[in-house]
Amino acid sequence: MMSADTEIHKGLEGVLADQCIFEEVAYLLQFGELPGKKELDVFAKQERKQRPISKDLLSVFGYFPPSAHPMDALQTAVSFLGMEDTDGWNHDETSLDKMTTKLLAKLPTVLAAVYRSRKGEKPIAPDANLCFSENFFHMCFGKVPDPATIKVFDVSLTLYAEHSFNASTFTGRVISSTLSDIYSAVSGAIGALKGPLHGGANEEVMHLLIEIGEPARAKAWMLKALEEKRKVMGFGHRVYLSGDSRVPTMKKYMLKMVEQTGNKKWAEISEILEQTMIREKGIYPNLDFPAGPAYYMMGFDIDIFTPIFVISRITGWCAHIKEQLAANRLIRPLCHYVGHAQRPVTPLENRG
Ligand code: COA
Repeated sequence: MMSADTEIHKGLEGVLADQCIFEEVAYLLQFGELPGKKELDVFAKQERKQRPISKDLLSVFGYFPPSAHPMDALQTAVSFLGMEDTDGWNHDETSLDKMTTKLLAKLPTVLAAVYRSRKGEKPIAPDANLCFSENFFHMCFGKVPDPATIKVFDVSLTLYAEHSFNASTFTGRVISSTLSDIYSAVSGAIGALKGPLHGGANEEVMHLLIEIGEPARAKAWMLKALEEKRKVMGFGHRVYLSGDSRVPTMKKYMLKMVEQTGNKKWAEISEILEQTMIREKGIYPNLDFPAGPAYYMMGFDIDIFTPIFVISRITGWCAHIKEQLAANRLIRPLCHYVGHAQRPVTPLENRG
């Protein structure tokens, strides 16, 4: 439960990431406790059953322009799922739980289909024998990687799942507070997450690592960026002023991808950037900094990194929406006006 004075609990997410699979974390966020074996089994069955999407929705992807960012495709698909759901306006807990599971199950199917459609490839149907993370790789690439890679992906989902009143979650809560439907709230949250100051940073991190190209260029690149007063993506945080507690866990698992691929370059460039930034400005990396290169080493295209964030954060958003609706009050901030004093309205013909 969140309240205005809630602090982000530091460090526990690393324990969850190490010890639990993402489905357990999704259950925890939806119901407030980690599941027992039986509860997890029922929950996983429901999620697996809900994975397929309608032929109508699949056909829509063919109309998206080739330049479409997958975040926009996801946002459109969420609206479409809302139009298909005749229970969309129900705000009781049971209906919200059903819609949450539906979104959790269907968004990876949407994303994988969009990913393949852009490459001119046919969608791959979800496989109910695979866990959440395995199934996502299966639907994107037609094969499931080694368990070590699956664990790194699963860890990233756990670390991305929930983060108090960040911009996208707040957006979702504002929309829900009007008693709009959950699909509208999630679609708005996706729009907020897309920006590079929020979730979009994991894509920008990879672009800058590629721009730097070689460890030998990293220090000079960072010093120049700071001299030019550029915002370096993947660094800084509104809440974590002395380091993001999710970073050590994600970094540990990103390094496992280095072991898997034998490619040390991105980790070496990252390390130099991190050390230089901390030394020069005392600003620490955030979760997007190690997550970007981890996804790249898994073989994903860069513009799918933020959408992957969505298929995880959907759990946090829906938990917040449920909490908001359980004791709803319209979120309507006041503002302090600092413009002109009140002026008379001059008729148009007298305004010159
Ligand atoms: N690169 C360079 N300088 C940075 C920086 C970054 N990534 N993040 C913060 N700073 C500097 C600012 O330039 C500012 O310096 P100044 O006081 O000399 O002007 C100071 O640190 C405070 O930054 P500010 O932008 O006011 O902090 P904020 O709390 O408003 O912003 C972020 C937080 C996340 C928006 C900001 O750190 C940022 O833009 N980071 C890059 C985007 C990113 O990685 N987003 C993902 C967040 S999880």
